[in-house]
Order: sequence, then structure tokens, then C-alpha cells
Amino acid sequence: MKVAAIAGSIREDSYNNMLLENIKERFNGKFDLDIIKIDKLPLFNQAEELDPPEIVKTFKNQIADYDAVLISTPEYNWSVPGVLKNSLDWLSRGERPMIGKPVMIVGASISLMGTIRAQMDLRRILSAPGLSARVLEPAKSEVLITQAHEKFDENGKLTDEATQDAVDRAVNNFHEMVSG
Ligand SMILES: Cc1cc2nc3c(=O)[nH]c(=O)nc-3n(C[C@H](O)[C@H](O)[C@H](O)COP(=O)(O)O)c2cc1C
Repeated sequence: MKVAAIAGSIREDSYNNMLLENIKERFNGKFDLDIIKIDKLPLFNQAEELDPPEIVKTFKNQIADYDAVLISTPEYNWSVPGVLKNSLDWLSRGERPMIGKPVMIVGASISLMGTIRAQMDLRRILSAPGLSARVLEPAKSEVLITQAHEKFDENGKLTDEATQDAVDRAVNNFHEMVSG
């Protein structure tokens, strides 16, 4: 099963990227997971939506090729980071590879809120007509990592057992959804 993973943070030491790396390594064999970078995508321009820059075409074709998409998002000012929204705006116009695509949302934040507001907004965005993704329901995918700086070690390994259990449960539910 081929899964495209997108981190909503482009920061080098991003906890959200660490979470994706953790899932990639732990579920190797079950998922063929690639982390797709969105940091070089230009800002969305509606005038170019039907004939976007080459890098955007490549990104959209990549996403189309995957069976499913995993998004790990931080929360910026109570919502999703602009860089993530920008990538979704490109995916929502012209060729629309997200329609019907199975998606799972996870997130890590250094605060006590664990990206709850960002994840709720992301669900709403992914249900817009141009995206219309098939998002794994919250009850099956609740990975809201609070105080992320205490849950990963200096090598980026997830060290918190309860968090790892929640991640494992959610990822197994996602696997079931995509293969079912
Ligand atoms: C511009 C900005 C706004 C932020 N707003 C929020 C917020 O609304 N809620 C929250 O929990 N954390 C907020 N944070 C803190 C992030 O959760 C924290 O920086 C997190 O580590 C970012 O994810 P990353 O480690 O994947 O880069 C904000 C950080 C930045 C830079």
C-alpha cells in the first residue's frame, strides 16, 4: 500500500516530520510510505490553476499515484499552517487528485492543545468540493500529541509509550480503511 505523507511544517527539526518518520519506520512492510515535501511549492495562483508550474504538476501527479495520504500538522494561530493550506489549494483545482482519496490526520504541538483546532479545520478543508477526501473518522484516528518536546528524544524517536500506542491504533485503523 503506497502512502504519501505530508508534514504541515517545513522546519528542519519539526516534531510533525519526526512523527511521520516514526510511522514510516515502524510500519515499514505494511505501508510503502514516502514523505513528500511541500516547501518548494510556489504560492497558489488561480490564474495558473489549469497549467501550473512544473513543480506543482509533479506534486499533483505524485499524490495521484498514492493509495492514501497521511497528513501530520502543527497548529499555527489556531489553524493549519499556510504552507499546508497552500499545497491543498493547488490540489483542489484543475486536476483534483484528492477526490475520494483516503486520508488520515495526525498532529503534534508543543502546547497542551495538541493541534485539536488545526485538525478540526483540516477536516473541514478536506471536505471542500475540490478536495472531497475520505478522511478517517476522529474516533479511529485521534493522534493529538501535546507537549511534543517531551515526547520525542534528541534523535527524533517517539519515546512516550501512551502516545506510541495511540499512533499504532490509529495507523492500524487507517490500514484497515484503505485496504477494506
Ligand atoms: C506562527 C506560529 C503559531 C503557532 N500557533 C500555535 C497555536 O495556535 N496552537 C498551538 O498549539 N501551537 C502553536 N504554535 C506552536 C507550535 O505548535 C510549535 O511550534 C510546533 O512545534 C510546530 O510544529 P513542528 O515542530 O512540526 O514545526 C505556533 C507556532 C508558530 C511558529
